[in-house]
Amino acid sequence: MLTKEEVIELLNPVKDPFLHITLEESGGIIEVSIKEDKKHISVKVGISKINTGEQMQMQQEIVGILKRNGANTVGLRFEQLPEEVIRKYQPAAEQTQEASLMGGNTNTNFIAVASGKGGVGKSTVTVNLAMALMRLGKKVGIIDADIYGFSVPDMMGIENRPLVRGKKIIPVERFGVKVISMGFFVEDNSPIIWRGPMLGKMLNSFFSEVEWGDLDYLLLDLPPGTGDIAMDVHELLPSCKEIIVTTPHPTAAFVAARAGQMAIKTNHEILGVVENMSYFVSEKTGEKEYVFGQGGGGKLAEVLKTKVLGHLQLGQPYMEEDIFAPSVYQEDHPNGKEYHKIAAKVIAQMEE
Ligand SMILES: Nc1ncnc2c1ncn2[C@@H]1O[C@H](COP(=O)(O)OP(=O)(O)OP(=O)(O)O)[C@@H](O)[C@H]1O
Ligand SMILES: [Mg+2]
Repeated sequence: MLTKEEVIELLNPVKDPFLHITLEESGGIIEVSIKEDKKHISVKVGISKINTGEQMQMQQEIVGILKRNGANTVGLRFEQLPEEVIRKYQPAAEQTQEASLMGGNTNTNFIAVASGKGGVGKSTVTVNLAMALMRLGKKVGIIDADIYGFSVPDMMGIENRPLVRGKKIIPVERFGVKVISMGFFVEDNSPIIWRGPMLGKMLNSFFSEVEWGDLDYLLLDLPPGTGDIAMDVHELLPSCKEIIVTTPHPTAAFVAARAGQMAIKTNHEILGVVENMSYFVSEKTGEKEYVFGQGGGGKLAEVLKTKVLGHLQLGQPYMEEDIFAPSVYQEDHPNGKEYHKIAAKVIAQMEE
């Protein structure tokens, strides 16, 4: 009768049908036990995808090998190999475009924050959605993709610069959120005069040259409108989802619809609409005053066949003496609470 070692030796050359490497290389022979008297061998095998036709074939192959070598009966159990193993050996061609940008990490959700026009609060929404996701326990990064008009570092009160390790740039971490921005690479706030092709390269570098690590969410703060960068993002990240920001004024929503239409045309799913600067809460009466009009978010969501994720009110974060982050709403701020709800909805949609 076979010994454990002989069983392992016999099965070592069997190949994982998806990773195209042997069980020896993948560490796929997880457990072997032998019942001498009944000539029964049971094996637990790790495979990269379970419950597939390929698994059935592998099962036949293994049973065949063991029976030819003296087993009367064979018990086989399959389980999925650990993610790290799969990621390590996954053939490059089978990786998604995004995963290869992220150094093989397949778990990152990409969300671009867009709007039709400037100044409606994309950057503010990006920063605070990132904060809310982080507060909900997610690992979050931000790419400030507004190459000319970067604002994320100032909004979060970031004063340090990224470090370089080997050939990789380490993003700056603020409140546990990792950030990369063109603002880190210009001196004295001088204007940037780069043009189209360089911009595309910059965006590429923000992936390939930055060590993001294992992120759950990577948010992209887009420049206003539907220009080059937005197109680059669509091309670079085919599975990127979108959030469209608008103000409540009906004409703002009309303009924002263009950004949304582009997402639809390029097959990018819209997670929803965030209406910013929705109302002002009167300090005297506590009543809501709709200073910028009403209904823009709802109207936009209707046009884009999506939903409104939340309404942010007008107002600044509370002043804090020791922490300087001018655009980060605190957890207990009315807008902080609204961002919490928005983040929870985003998680529910992305991880359903
Ligand atoms: N809910 C709000 N209440 C008060 N001020 C706000 C609110 N949201 C954003 N702001 C302010 O409005 C200005 C524009 O916001 P922000 O920079 O986030 O917009 P943007 O859409 O990213 O602009 P741009 O198109 O220039 O990138 C900022 O000064 C910001 O602090
Ligand atoms: Mg901005």
